[in-house]
Amino acid sequence: SKGEYRHYMLKEIFEQPAVISAALEGRLSSHGVLVESFGPDALALFQKTRHVHIIACGTSYHAGMVVRYWLERYAGVPVQVEVASEYRYRHPVVPEGTLFVTLSQSGETADTLAALRFAKTLNYVGSLAICNVPGSSLVRESDMSLMTRAGPEIGVASTKAFTTQLIALMLLTLSVSKAKGQPEQPEIIGALQALPALCQQVLGLDRQIEVLSQAFAEKHHALFLGRGAHYPIALEGALKLKEISYIHAEAYPAGELKHGPLALVDSEMPVISVAPNDDLLEKLKSNLQEVRARGGQLFVFADQKVGISSQDDIRVLELPEVHEALAPLLYTLPLQLLSYHVAVLKGTDVDQPRNLAKSVTVE
Ligand code: M6R
Repeated sequence: SKGEYRHYMLKEIFEQPAVISAALEGRLSSHGVLVESFGPDALALFQKTRHVHIIACGTSYHAGMVVRYWLERYAGVPVQVEVASEYRYRHPVVPEGTLFVTLSQSGETADTLAALRFAKTLNYVGSLAICNVPGSSLVRESDMSLMTRAGPEIGVASTKAFTTQLIALMLLTLSVSKAKGQPEQPEIIGALQALPALCQQVLGLDRQIEVLSQAFAEKHHALFLGRGAHYPIALEGALKLKEISYIHAEAYPAGELKHGPLALVDSEMPVISVAPNDDLLEKLKSNLQEVRARGGQLFVFADQKVGISSQDDIRVLELPEVHEALAPLLYTLPLQLLSYHVAVLKGTDVDQPRNLAKSVTVE
């Protein structure tokens, strides 16, 4: 039941600290990751893994886009990520030693399942499903699986399923790295253990985000900007807003602004950006200046250390400091809350948006 919450979506957003803990439970040692969480054959398979192909749809696809940055940076493994409906009709070239990974909350998405069946006819070393539903078709048909443990997700707009997928994908990154004989990453392990409490802190911004949402209710368009692993977070923020508030939203890697979308920016265009404290921050700040110079209204979720402050044309909400690797998880939360409150203001059917189904079991 929804309990004290007005919608399932809100309840599921607030469950994230607990389900993130559940997703980590028993899968870490004090200083490293337990590779066997992926099953008895995982270590041998990851040792052979030289490339990773990731296939998913929608929000799950955005999780795949995040782990590309992680696997490349922390495990040194090249990654390709693609939406299932495209992948299954290509003629993919599969280099020796490629692991096939599907991401799906339901494990029943028709295109993702078809992509897995197609992949079995190709030269992969094995298949891994990261999924929220034990016993689903995807899990049954994959060589290995890891459950995200998000619990039932009722809201059509995926929230806790996404952040727990990211946890599973960080465990995958650390496991592949370990299998390749690279040193463990104790700082990331520590940061994972601290993450539920940090998420709880960010959820405390709910009331402020609700106030912020008033600036969006009358808008017809919105632009989301992020860089690096936060580009997919911007995509996910835009998808949430589209899905439940029916406001047209687009996301760009901030460096692409000048290459076209800047033409859209005027005082009617809200621009939402996530600004964690990472090595792309200075670049992002100059992108935000480009928006301000065109009269755009900026809404920035920023690390408390980055030194951007609210002014007439820019509203800043501060997030606590977080290990750079896990910032994509933390910065997802305010974007979920923003789209939720905008949808509530607009009076849409938040949990059951028009034209959409929770699980897309037809092509
Ligand atoms: O069950 P899956 O993760 O395979 O579903 C994939 C997409 O249909 C799903 O993520 C969809 O994009 C959500 N409604 C997004 O909120």
